[in-house]
Amino acid sequence: MKFSFPACLFSCSTEVNNNDFADGEINDGSFRVFTYQQLKSATGNFSSKIGQGGFGSVYKGRLKDGSFVAVKVLSIEIESMRGEREFVAELATLANMKHHNLVSLKGCCVEGAKRYLVYEYMENNSLHHTFLGSEDKRERFSWEERKSISIGVARGLSYLHEELKPHIVHRDIKAKNILIDRSFTPKLADFGLAKLMRDEKSYISTRVAGTLGYLAPEYASSGQLRRKSDVYSFGVLLLQVITGLAVVDAYKDIERFIVEKAYAAYEANDLLRIVDPVLNRNYSAKEAIKFLKVGLLCVQENARLRPRMSEVVEILTNSNVDLKDVHISKPGFVADLRNIRIKQNMTTSSPQESGSSGTTFASSIWSVGNLAR
Ligand SMILES: Nc1ncnc2c1ncn2[C@@H]1O[C@H](COP(=O)(O)OP(=O)(O)OP(=O)(O)O)[C@@H](O)[C@H]1O
Ligand SMILES: [Mg+2]
Repeated sequence: MKFSFPACLFSCSTEVNNNDFADGEINDGSFRVFTYQQLKSATGNFSSKIGQGGFGSVYKGRLKDGSFVAVKVLSIEIESMRGEREFVAELATLANMKHHNLVSLKGCCVEGAKRYLVYEYMENNSLHHTFLGSEDKRERFSWEERKSISIGVARGLSYLHEELKPHIVHRDIKAKNILIDRSFTPKLADFGLAKLMRDEKSYISTRVAGTLGYLAPEYASSGQLRRKSDVYSFGVLLLQVITGLAVVDAYKDIERFIVEKAYAAYEANDLLRIVDPVLNRNYSAKEAIKFLKVGLLCVQENARLRPRMSEVVEILTNSNVDLKDVHISKPGFVADLRNIRIKQNMTTSSPQESGSSGTTFASSIWSVGNLAR
């Protein structure tokens, strides 16, 4: 895949940017390079923070044309240059793709050791922030919305996996990376960790990234990156959307993982027992069972048995498809986080790089604090 980077992305001076864009809010929807001053003024000197991730903070801003943006600030770690790598990866990936279910990148800015990504602003923040977690939030999350958000995420992933050439593995599908716009359309975000797949062979990652609980077992144990690892994460997300359960319950000894709970209900032929109780039975039982079965199909231990994302879209959207007679094998999960084997030199890693729950981690971070909620 050839990327059409803005001509002077990493080397151009602010002067050139100023000339190109000074006060002139060229807003034709194309990717643009902002100056630091423009972003400073758009965000009121970075005064309105809307989120914090493992790689930096996110601020709300307003451009001169009146449109709202989310500005993500990444700091480069001089030694590892990790920040820059994420920045380049995210840009290269996002600047070239447009899809109803992908968040769009409006531009970027390079200033000293700081890198800024400018996204369209999503009024309803993330799936994690707006709809999951507390009962109050989940009560506002109807069955129809759960269905349409699940299907939208599946469509976005299907686009990345099967329509784009070469295809892209997102690597970090989780509720925090599903942003929700004004009309409740879900948009996949955070392609900072995405890797381009140039052929059908799996990519051996030099560091396992992702978020514990959403992480496919084969990816965690070998670093082997395939589209089916995203399918696994999608399956976890789907189970989460339908049940409202935490992805990992760190305080439990048995059935700690949502995939275990769901499989136990499936084996007992009683999947409905795990549908989110706050829905008060306001859903079609047939649909709920089908969605849960799709979630379980996606998290099967054997990656080859997991469906492709286009198949997932087809099953979820076609009311003639029921999964009555389908056999679902047991799910995989990363049971003992300490057993994760990483194909990289660990000596430069600090043991606890990030403590916030549900945060993306690099391979070196193994703390209970990283369990996805
Ligand atoms: N375009 C946007 N519009 C509105 N809110 C956003 C936007 N982008 C990000 N956010 C908010 O900022 C938060 C932080 O985003 P970020 O991608 O940096 O980290 P994260 O996904 O929460 O965690 P991680 O670093 O593990 O990926 C998001 O969870 C979301 O709440
Ligand atoms: Mg994110």
